[in-house]
Amino acid sequence: MKSYKLLTPGPLTTTMSVKAAMQFDRCTWDDDYKQITRKIRRQLLAIAGVSPAEYTAVLLQGSGSFGVEAVLTTAVGPAGKCLFITNGAYGERMVKMASYMGLCHTVLAMPCNQVPAAADIEKILAGDAAITHVALVHCETTSGILNPLAEIAQITKAYGKILIVDAMSSFGGVEIPVQELGIDYLVSSANKCIQGVPGFCFVLARIDLLQQCEGNARSLVLDLYDQWRHMDGDGKWRYTSPTHVVAAFSQALDELEAEGGVQARQQRYQASNDLLRTRLKELGFAAYIAEERQSPIITTFLFPDAAFCFQDFYQHVKERGYVLYPGKLTDSDTFRIGNIGEIYETDIQQLCEIIAEYMRRRQT
Ligand SMILES: Cc1ncc(COP(=O)(O)O)c(C=O)c1O
Repeated sequence: MKSYKLLTPGPLTTTMSVKAAMQFDRCTWDDDYKQITRKIRRQLLAIAGVSPAEYTAVLLQGSGSFGVEAVLTTAVGPAGKCLFITNGAYGERMVKMASYMGLCHTVLAMPCNQVPAAADIEKILAGDAAITHVALVHCETTSGILNPLAEIAQITKAYGKILIVDAMSSFGGVEIPVQELGIDYLVSSANKCIQGVPGFCFVLARIDLLQQCEGNARSLVLDLYDQWRHMDGDGKWRYTSPTHVVAAFSQALDELEAEGGVQARQQRYQASNDLLRTRLKELGFAAYIAEERQSPIITTFLFPDAAFCFQDFYQHVKERGYVLYPGKLTDSDTFRIGNIGEIYETDIQQLCEIIAEYMRRRQT
């Protein structure tokens, strides 16, 4: 099979050294392996810039959605009520999870290309004292929009609510002042901006809040409290852990540090994203999200005209070494290009040449 680079929002293209870290079969009982888990947990707190006395990092088997559901079922107790702020598929997925588990909730739903107004959130919080938690997606990967986290955090905290953030596609690639903003639970996964491979997710949680969550979970395997208690013992995971993925993630974290941390990674992503949007605009592709709301992670582009065939376009680009992503919007014809992972400006330049060639061919 011909190889290609992934221009997707994760799983993404990883370095050879991250892949190489998986070439050894580790024992879950052995202290060498437990030390890797302990190291990862410390590093996650460090890159989030939070105090280890106030926050803990809990790793959990499964993809990102498992982490989101674990937080909802563990953090929102039987007497709790969660306000979900949504503007895309991942926000809607949280609402679906809440419905499945019978969690009391309310929703502020926005169109995919709009962010919620502070006044609307405030109105809901002021009018419903039963709300205990507010949950939102930071970078809505559905469209690539970056939600105004600082603004929403400020209102949430002013009303004394617990803040849950799905930072799946932004953590590690966009600076998030977790503690300063008062984020109580943040969820992300191994195969996003830390640039590991898929297989587990993680939660950064305020220790004092998690301590109060014993017995809340409506699911055994998604009980974040129990997972934390177990992992906090000697570093061994509750149930079988994805050993190869964990080793790769440890390597990926070291590489993030070597790159210069989240700030440097954000700069790289931003430069690639700026270049991508500028060049594609010249080639006739309009971005779906307004520039000031666009994340440096993934961009949604509208089809240039009614005759545009994504499948044909995709195949042309794939044969030349890059894989794109279909759109996820229901009301517009779009496709997406991610620029996270082991991707540099040279890749974006090459991609744009490939796309330019495709557009020239279409005209002949
Ligand atoms: C913002 C966001 N939330 C949740 C998810 C779900 O993660 P997973 O597909 O790993 O379950 C994704 C996946 O891309 C995402 O981007």
